[in-house]
Amino acid sequence: MDSIDDLKNGKLPKHLAIIMDGNGRWAKQKGRLRVFGHEHGVKAVRDVAVNCSKLGIKYLTLYAFSTENWKRPKLEVDTLMKLLVSSLKKELHTLNENNIKLNAIGNIESLPSRALAELKEVMAKTSSNTTMTLTLALSYGSREEIKKAIQSISTKVKNNIISPENIDETIINNHLYTRNLPDVDLLIRTSGEHRISNFLLWQIAYAELYFIDVFWPDFKEHHLLEALKNYQHRERRFGKTSEQLN
Ligand code: IPE
Ligand code: IPE
Ligand code: MG
Repeated sequence: MDSIDDLKNGKLPKHLAIIMDGNGRWAKQKGRLRVFGHEHGVKAVRDVAVNCSKLGIKYLTLYAFSTENWKRPKLEVDTLMKLLVSSLKKELHTLNENNIKLNAIGNIESLPSRALAELKEVMAKTSSNTTMTLTLALSYGSREEIKKAIQSISTKVKNNIISPENIDETIINNHLYTRNLPDVDLLIRTSGEHRISNFLLWQIAYAELYFIDVFWPDFKEHHLLEALKNYQHRERRFGKTSEQLN
C-alpha cells in the first residue's frame, strides 16, 4: 500500500464524488435494524472528509439522500433526517478544525425545517473555510436537477435574456445545483452495486468510475487510498488517442 505521501506526489482527483451505499445491508448482516447501519455510516463520512482534506482534495461530494429515498419507510426517513441534524451539530467543530466548507446540492427546501435550519447554520459557520468544499447531496436527483435547469433556461429564453442559439455547456452548468463545482474526476460507489442511481448524470460525463464491494460503514482510509492509487494509474483520454496525450 502506498503511503499518503506517495499518493500526494501523483495526480489526485480535484473533485471526488462518492455514492455511500450499503448501510442497510451492513446492519442486516449484524442482525440489527437498518438505522443502526446509518448511525455507523456517519463515522465513515467524518473519516473520509477529514482524510480527503488532509490529502489536498479540493472538492468532495457525498450522496447522502436521493429524491427516490423519500419513498422508504417513514421510520427510516425520519431517522435519517434526525441523524442529519445531530451529525451537523456534532461535526461543526470537525469541519472548522480541518478548514472544510460545507455545501449542499439538491432540493434542500424539501428537508424538514429543523434539518434545513441546521444545514444552513453549519454552511454559514464554515463559509470562509478554504481547504476543501464538502458537498452533501440531500434530496438530490440528477433528473430533477436537469429538469429545473431546463425550466429556468426556458424562462430566460422566453424573457429574451438568453437566445436559444447561445445555449452552451457553460450556460447549462450555471443552471445546475453544481454551478460552483468542477466536473467529477473520480466517482466511487460502495456496497458492490454497479449503478449510478440518479447521481450527477451530467457532471460524471468523463469521470473515472470505481466500484468497491465493502458496505459504506466499513469503508476505511485504506480503501480510499486504494481507490486513489487505482485512479492514478488510469489514462484519461477525453476522446483523444493515447499518443496525443504524450
Ligand atoms: C445508503 O445505504 C444510505 C442511503 C441511501 C440513505 P442504504 O440505506 O441504501 O443501504 P442498502 O443499500 O439498503 O444496504
Ligand atoms: C443511492 O443509494 C442513494 C444514496 C447513496 C444516498 P440507493 O440505495 O438509494 O440506490 P438504489 O436504490 O440501490 O439504486
Ligand atoms: Mg442502497
